[in-house]
Amino acid sequence: MYGSHEEAIMTQDDKKKAAARAALEYVADNAVIGVGTGSTANHFIELLATLRGRIEGTVASSEATAARLRRHGIPVYDLNGVGTVPVYVDGADEADRNLRLVKGGGGALTREKILAAAAEKFVCVADDSKLVAVLGKFPVPVEVIPMARSYVARQVVKLGGNPIWRDGFVTDNGNIVLDVYNLNLTDPAAVEAELNQITGVVTNGIFARRPADVLILGTDGGVRTIT
Ligand code: 5RP
Repeated sequence: MYGSHEEAIMTQDDKKKAAARAALEYVADNAVIGVGTGSTANHFIELLATLRGRIEGTVASSEATAARLRRHGIPVYDLNGVGTVPVYVDGADEADRNLRLVKGGGGALTREKILAAAAEKFVCVADDSKLVAVLGKFPVPVEVIPMARSYVARQVVKLGGNPIWRDGFVTDNGNIVLDVYNLNLTDPAAVEAELNQITGVVTNGIFARRPADVLILGTDGGVRTIT
């Protein structure tokens, strides 16, 4: 009989979970921490729940995340009453080696950007398929005040983008989302600023001016951390 050698096959979801688990190392006792939105952040929430009582509470980047945290009995606070958070843990749709990100696939980009801005340390957790040489394959989500939808779309076209309305989707802030394809993101900070200059734009999903501080990637060979 031949000895069988079974390779552990990591699914994309296993990798997300491994990255989320590694982020627990950044969670200090008795802290109020920022928690993001999406399937990787959901893994982090499940793991946080096992630390019951070790943290004081959280600030959530979306209503969905707030509801999930509360279901686990984890307190959720308003950022205004908390000020800054020592750490914010969230996923990404794309990340480059300089820890610049595209986020907002789940439509929570504005609150995510606020939490990233208010965080002393932004820990991004993802599976390794999210790491890219140059950002921009994933369309850039742009949150827009509803009455400005077609005006903003026209301005985005002038910047070389192809905006597609995420029809039927309303953000937690009552706005709409344009997913912008074909933007040249070789200088993501410049495009981030340009998009935000368009009247009617609330914010966009390029996180280059405030990138992550730590990127934790789940890979077949284990967790890889880039700082
Ligand atoms: C939500 C986000 C998410 O972080 C992003 O979409 C990644 O999601 P997932 O962890 O499910 O791959 O920005 O607005």
